[in-house]
Amino acid sequence: MNLPDALYDRDIDLAPLQAVTLAIIGYGNHGRSHALNLRDSGVKGVLVALRDGSPSADKARGDGFEVVSLDEAARRADYVSILAADEAHGAIWTGHIAPNRKAGQGLIFCHGFSIDYDLIDPPADCDVILAAAKGPGGAVRESFERGGGLTGFWAVHHDASGQAETIAKAYLKGLGCGRAGIFATSFREEALADILGEQAVLVGGMCALARQGYETLVAAGISPLMAYIDTVHELKYIAELIHRRGIAGMYAAISDTAEFGAHEVEARIADAVKPVFDDIVADVVSGDFARRWVADFEKDRAGLHAARANAGQHELEETGRYLRKALGLE
Ligand SMILES: NC(=O)c1ccc[n+]([C@@H]2O[C@H](COP(=O)([O-])OP(=O)(O)OC[C@H]3O[C@@H](n4cnc5c(N)ncnc54)[C@H](OP(=O)(O)O)[C@@H]3O)[C@@H](O)[C@H]2O)c1
Repeated sequence: MNLPDALYDRDIDLAPLQAVTLAIIGYGNHGRSHALNLRDSGVKGVLVALRDGSPSADKARGDGFEVVSLDEAARRADYVSILAADEAHGAIWTGHIAPNRKAGQGLIFCHGFSIDYDLIDPPADCDVILAAAKGPGGAVRESFERGGGLTGFWAVHHDASGQAETIAKAYLKGLGCGRAGIFATSFREEALADILGEQAVLVGGMCALARQGYETLVAAGISPLMAYIDTVHELKYIAELIHRRGIAGMYAAISDTAEFGAHEVEARIADAVKPVFDDIVADVVSGDFARRWVADFEKDRAGLHAARANAGQHELEETGRYLRKALGLE
């Protein structure tokens, strides 16, 4: 198999990023971690840009950052890193950045969504850069503080300055990704991989298997507590093993009984979900999913709120609360 070569800290110069004013839009999981890591790496010109009345303003000021409005960030920054919720990117661009932007100002993203699905249509003088630390925002900071970093992926959608690739790599180095490895990608690949992975496996697929497993065990006469432990609670231990050792390594670390049975059923489960996975790919690749999500966002996320309320009603949530309380986890 042809695996790509990585870039590391020693291959990348931070100086081009240290010479610019950078505004980070949003101070959530990624926004805060990016701002702190970049500053700790030696990037001094970091502003934090927040919407009016943002609940995150005090936190950003408390961390020592200058907090500015979205319009002011657009007027002052050489690069704007858009780390607000993806579905809001279109409104942030048309309402604040496009009408106020400094000439030649570049855009940086950590997910390919809003460029790949055309939520933003940048002008010709704009660098459009992807600098994605692959993982949740909290892990960007935690790994950095431990002296490590997450794997980083960069892409350039448009290079107006001739510096876009240099800035992308420097940004990832500032996040700490040069300690773990930095690779090239495209906006399209990153957007599809992220959305397909979370829908088919990491979130949608895993929760469907866990819920269906719980229901199946309870219907087979197993107590809710025991069913919850064996289909939901212990996921953490298996995920941890896969994270550290890979799937084959996880199999080697569990009991032979578990491994023998799992090998027998894996192919049957894979065959059953394959048509669903194919539908998910078609839905995401065509842009239908992105259109539905942006339409829901414009209706104050009515569909998301209804689905969230419905998920919270499932009986296994009560079982889970009981178990976590007994274990002192909540
Ligand atoms: N590369 C990866 O593996 C990866 C992983 C996870 C996420 N991401 C990406 O990281 C970005 C941020 O995600 P996150 O997890 O950090 O999100 P988050 O924790 O939910 O933070 C979102 C931030 O967006 C701000 N925001 C929301 N709507 C806004 C609006 N209309 N105008 C201005 N600001 C708004 C919020 O502002 P307030 O503080 O004012 O509420 C908040 O600070 C997204 O593009 C996401 O796809 C990438």
